[in-house]
Amino acid sequence: MRVVSGIQPTGNLHLGNYLGAIRNWVKMQDEMGAPAQAAEGGSAEEASECLFFLADLHAISQPHDPAELRRNTLEMAAALVACGIDPDRSVMFNQAQVPAHAELQWLLMGTGRMGWLNRMTQWKDKAGKNREGQSVALFAYPVLQAADVLLYQATHVPVGEDQKQHLELARDIAQKFNNDFASEDAPVFTLPDPYIPPQAARIMSLRDGSAKMSKSDLSEMSRINLTDDADTIMKKVKKAKTDPEPLPSEAEGLADRPEALNLVTIYAALAESTVDSVLGDFGGEGFGKFKPALGELMVETLAPTSARFTELLEDREAIEAILARGAAKARERGLPTLDATYEALGL
Ligand code: ADP
Ligand code: NA
Repeated sequence: MRVVSGIQPTGNLHLGNYLGAIRNWVKMQDEMGAPAQAAEGGSAEEASECLFFLADLHAISQPHDPAELRRNTLEMAAALVACGIDPDRSVMFNQAQVPAHAELQWLLMGTGRMGWLNRMTQWKDKAGKNREGQSVALFAYPVLQAADVLLYQATHVPVGEDQKQHLELARDIAQKFNNDFASEDAPVFTLPDPYIPPQAARIMSLRDGSAKMSKSDLSEMSRINLTDDADTIMKKVKKAKTDPEPLPSEAEGLADRPEALNLVTIYAALAESTVDSVLGDFGGEGFGKFKPALGELMVETLAPTSARFTELLEDREAIEAILARGAAKARERGLPTLDATYEALGL
């Protein structure tokens, strides 16, 4: 089993990013079991492992600031390591350091069809009425996504609802390429299956239960940053918006209490528990009791991550070294497929 997954490099990471995205990767890594020994021997093909990449090549499909992109890439890498991605067990790298991604994308451009890409709902949504003004990259980036996973003969690709169509496209491209350029008993590409990741929590703002916790929220009090210290966390939780009612003993009781539901959801996610189980413990209690408990749990869970994250952010070279090692491993994994693709195309 080989899982390949990408994440956009983003900065100012918060609790929502951690519980909604990063922690899922750590879980996937842990589900892979024993560390892959692939780096040493020639056993890369048999090893069960995860390849995690920062999608910096995707970032240039839309207007961006180069310095910010570089900073965000390093910050995301630091966060992943701080949160538990082990660069010795998983292959973690940024796309731009593995030229085979861009190469394979071009090699697949002859197989992808305009009509397929034209049907992508993400393209339609992002381009809106101004298709003519979009970059070629925005239109073609699903082909890069196909290259991202086909390069490594991924067997499984974690997909949220919004990415299902792109994985289908990757399968279509792989299938057509195999049909057109490979013999039936020696296909060049594996058709990857979707992997449904463990249910991730959706975390809302601490100031408004109807808004997602986000780095773009102007209020610092609305989110817990991965760099917040214990005092800041306790203060933000204490000031979080709530209502005067005590907590109910079952989840239905939170149906029209979004702020209360959010705090209980966060507690459940941090404790790897459920809303009902948390209410089993705190039902009947007011926020005067629940908030300090939530704050302490948050501090306890995030403190080691946050310390490691801050430490790594101050040591840019260490992160760069981790990414460089990951890229070297990724290049090694991808090379046989890249060579086979050139060969199949008569190049
Ligand atoms: P932001 O909204 O702060 O700009 P991004 O859009 O950069 O965050 O998201 C990066 C990743 O974190 C995505 O996978 C996204 O689904 C996840 N994520 C962001 N905010 C939340 C949230 N409030 N709850 C759960 N997951 C989130
Ligand atoms: Na966003």
